[in-house]
Amino acid sequence: MCGIFGYVGERKDAGRLVVDGLKCLEYRGYDSWGVACKEEDDHLVIEKKIGKISDVKSSAFLEKCSIAVGHTRWATHGGVTEENAHPHTNEDGSIAVVHNGIVENYQELRDGLLARGHTFLSETDTEVLPHLLEEELKKTNDFASAVRLVSQKIVGRYAFLALHTDSNVLVAARNGSPLIVGVGSDGYFIASDIPAFLDSTRTVQYLDDGEMVVTDGHSILFSDLATGEEHPKREIEITWSVEQAEKGEYQHYMLKEIMEQKDTIVRAVNQDDKETRTIAEAIRSARGTFLVGCGTAHKACMAAEYFFSVIAGHHVNVSSAGEFKLYHHFLKPESLLIVVSQSGETADVLEAMKIAKSKRAKVLAIVNVEGSTIDREADYSLLINAGPERAVASTKALTGQMAVLLLIAHALARKLHDGKTQLLEAGSMINDMLNPRYVERLEKLAEKIKHREDLYIIGKSWNYPMALESAIKIQEVSNIHAEGFAGGELKHGPIALIEEGTPCIALIGKDEVTGDILSNATEIKARGGFIIGVSPENNPIFDEWIKVPDAAAAQPLVNIIPIQILAYYLAVQRGKDPDMPRNLAKSVTVK
Ligand code: F6R
Repeated sequence: MCGIFGYVGERKDAGRLVVDGLKCLEYRGYDSWGVACKEEDDHLVIEKKIGKISDVKSSAFLEKCSIAVGHTRWATHGGVTEENAHPHTNEDGSIAVVHNGIVENYQELRDGLLARGHTFLSETDTEVLPHLLEEELKKTNDFASAVRLVSQKIVGRYAFLALHTDSNVLVAARNGSPLIVGVGSDGYFIASDIPAFLDSTRTVQYLDDGEMVVTDGHSILFSDLATGEEHPKREIEITWSVEQAEKGEYQHYMLKEIMEQKDTIVRAVNQDDKETRTIAEAIRSARGTFLVGCGTAHKACMAAEYFFSVIAGHHVNVSSAGEFKLYHHFLKPESLLIVVSQSGETADVLEAMKIAKSKRAKVLAIVNVEGSTIDREADYSLLINAGPERAVASTKALTGQMAVLLLIAHALARKLHDGKTQLLEAGSMINDMLNPRYVERLEKLAEKIKHREDLYIIGKSWNYPMALESAIKIQEVSNIHAEGFAGGELKHGPIALIEEGTPCIALIGKDEVTGDILSNATEIKARGGFIIGVSPENNPIFDEWIKVPDAAAAQPLVNIIPIQILAYYLAVQRGKDPDMPRNLAKSVTVK
């Protein structure tokens, strides 16, 4: 959460570059933004505003600076005000800092700074940084050394970028929040994520936790934050293209990414057979396999519990990454933790990995972002190859994650070939589903229910996690109160919520639980519920039937597609921006 971006080099339009780059990081936070440019006469020009940086014309940033930093904010400490927007500076405005993460000991540091005569303009934890940098700079006379010393004083997960009017360098430090260097032909970029500089370079260098970097635009030096020891870095070419990261003909990234599922399932399934079988063997021989993720990725893990059980007869333990600590007693060096994450940067998932590693258990990561922290820190890693996911609401990453997990379940059952065939068929079914008539049908259904304030979704077996996922998708983009339940749970309490006309979506497949879930839907109908059946077959109890193909074990992948489209249109028709849901941001790098 929060996007930070800086540039130093030969170009004279650093301010404009940073504003444009921040627009590509807006999914990380969009309540306010700010930029600091060091102009040719060495003074800092700072601009901060409440609202979205996508609304800003970058041409307003004049071409007279070659070093700049910027930030797009998701508020943690202090409300959404111009004062709290980054960059933050010291009193004389000679040092500017942009920061992602939390300075946990900021209160103590702030009290000390206040006692030493510093004054503060914001309520943020970040503002301690420029003041501390000023103090250390006075002692060392070297800006990079000041950054190192300040990093040693702060506690928490963070990444920050700093610049100073007296030196032509950009300095950055990382401990727990992502930072990537883009190696350009005319300078260096430092950003929270690759899309910020993708139209300038695809050559990157990753900072690891406990490292800092100093660059004057011509050369770059990575070093250890604690010892100052130099850390040589490899340059890596990334495969994502600018087109993949752009909206193209679509009005929103969310719809573009839903439509991309025509190809992304196939790309996810295209794993190396030998590697997939090796992973299946690692699961078979592990003394305890644990699966964790957050939010939507957690729902992929829940679906996988059914895949492993039904297809391979194998038991796995599933937990939300934030609750994984409960399992630490059961971890042994022979245990396996499977972490699922689109961004590869989610703080709770990284914490779960730390717990597993402390017990010497092995970690397998299923990620989308190559080179992300989770990808690099895991013992083994499988990429879902979905391409950049820019909308905050995860769509194509979920189906890619489930496809990889379903493939592994088949490999575990020694039926990898069958699994691949089934998934490729599901990919082709999804390709057929995503036609204009189908999408229009869901747009019309959204019209019918858009004014309802409550909506329920039921599912059974592997459709149960999809009921929970449907609720997340509808809640986050349309802000309708949506809840998902296991069909059988309804009559143990929640059925009391059903009133005349309450929309209730039933996610159904063609399997041994079809009869049960239809009975649950009938119970809702008897209490006045408006039943939307997402099912391969029609049924007289449905008030609306959304046809889906019969996809056997891949049913959760096809059943979630119409819900993603419905959620999208509910958001648009209720006047919401589906790409930037209220209170949210993508890549949750704080716990
Ligand atoms: C919801 C959504 C979130 C993410 C969650 C985990 O649509 O996108 O629930 O799934 O924040 O993020 P990753 O997968 O990046 O670890």
